Amino acid sequence: MLVAEQIRKTFGGLVAVQDVDLHLQEGEILGLVGPNGAGKTTLLNIISGLYKPDNGSIHYKGENITGLALNSVCKKGIAKTFQHPQSFPGMLASEAVMVSAIFGNHHKVNMKEARDEAVGHLDFVHFPKEKIDASLSQLNLMELKRVQLARALASQPRLLLLDELTTGLNPNESDEAIGLIRKIREEGTTIMLIEHVMRVITGVSDRIVVLDHGVKIADGTPLDVLNEQRVIDSYLGEKY
Ligand SMILES: Nc1ncnc2c1ncn2[C@@H]1O[C@H](COP(=O)(O)OP(=O)(O)OP(=O)(O)O)[C@@H](O)[C@H]1O
Ligand SMILES: [Mg+2]
Repeated sequence: MLVAEQIRKTFGGLVAVQDVDLHLQEGEILGLVGPNGAGKTTLLNIISGLYKPDNGSIHYKGENITGLALNSVCKKGIAKTFQHPQSFPGMLASEAVMVSAIFGNHHKVNMKEARDEAVGHLDFVHFPKEKIDASLSQLNLMELKRVQLARALASQPRLLLLDELTTGLNPNESDEAIGLIRKIREEGTTIMLIEHVMRVITGVSDRIVVLDHGVKIADGTPLDVLNEQRVIDSYLGEKY
């Protein structure tokens, strides 16, 4: 579904992502892990079109999408949530999702249909019903993350990129998130997710890729990857 080859991104003198090859099969859940500053977010930002890579190419369903802008990539079916949710504080939760239902894909919907879709997506991600028309500035971090996920889903992605969706959740909440991620995949969406919570990563991933200082150091099944000495040394600290 996705083939990224030799992806490189530098910020000034810093090489954030260093010649990374990565592929994704349709229907798969791929976990992306690695220490802080390893380049995980940067890689997702490149795939989603937020950053242009300095080198390398990205093909999605056979089409070269390298360097396309975020909105074009989104309309092709790749949506992303952000590690640190940012939003227009005066916008309502329902409106934030409606914008995506209207402009995030090629389907034509009127305002009523967009609102119905938004309410459906917010319900799916267990966003509190009584806050559907609350402004984003009144929401806590968890609620903002749910809005982000609903907004990503409203663009009807075939590939969903999740950047630390469950960071800061308690064990019950992360179990719920694991359930949601599985359900999204069951409905036909391929998922690539960055997570630091190993329980979540091992709970959902078919395959894991490990980045360290911008370099891909492992790629394989969770069992194989988490037992690799290099992964233990650079990321896990001790055997998981
Ligand atoms: N827009 C930017 N401008 C300058 N440097 C950046 C930018 N984005 C990321 N970096 C740097 O690139 C490196 C990789 O950052 P990135 O955010 O991709 O790491 P990460 O693996 O997502 O880390 P974390 O687990 O902390 O979220 C870091 O050294 C970071 O400071
Ligand atoms: Mg990050």
